[in-house]
Amino acid sequence: MEALAAYADQASTCTRCRLAQGRTQVVFGVGNPDADLMFVGEAPGFHEDKQGVPFVGQAGKLLDKLLAGIGLERSEVYIANVLKCRPPGNRDPQPDEIESCEPHLFRQIELIQPRVVATLGNFATKLLSGKPLGITRVHGVDQDAAVGGNRVLLYPLYHPAAALYTPAMLKVLEDDFRRIPELMGRSVVPEPQLEPVLLTPQPAVQLGLF
Ligand code: URA
Repeated sequence: MEALAAYADQASTCTRCRLAQGRTQVVFGVGNPDADLMFVGEAPGFHEDKQGVPFVGQAGKLLDKLLAGIGLERSEVYIANVLKCRPPGNRDPQPDEIESCEPHLFRQIELIQPRVVATLGNFATKLLSGKPLGITRVHGVDQDAAVGGNRVLLYPLYHPAAALYTPAMLKVLEDDFRRIPELMGRSVVPEPQLEPVLLTPQPAVQLGLF
């Protein structure tokens, strides 16, 4: 807990990429530092940048509602993003920004040690799976992964912002969400021979993600 707070403090002055210039503040993450379940979104938007907290806008309200649907509150999980600073005009994260920011996310995962990491949307899913497969193909399919030296269960989900205005997608997101309690109860069997795909941060471009 203290180590996470110390790291957040260190990250609050980050100037690893150009997004440092336009941000109000670094949006590091929020929630329980000992959470078994962690969510990783894309990047802070307008409200997140102003308040310094991830998922406080419309997409965040939907996330809270989905959590309530499985009996969880925001304070029981941990919520972060691939990028810790708001891209101007909410544009997509650029490969070099993701590459600069990924040590922050990997360190967060290393310190929190969640059992399940639910990736919200394409950017988090491609980065943490190390595969170029898009969210439409992989949502709802859990996969073992090694992230920042930890074995976790990755669980790709549609991004709540995308589901906000597409009822069909919302239904899929709700259905996928309902499997989370089962996944959290599932123990991760240690497999020492598993190749740690993301132990060393890989440049996103080199992974062929974009
Ligand atoms: N969308 C995200 O991906 N992250 C946020 O924090 C808010 C909206």
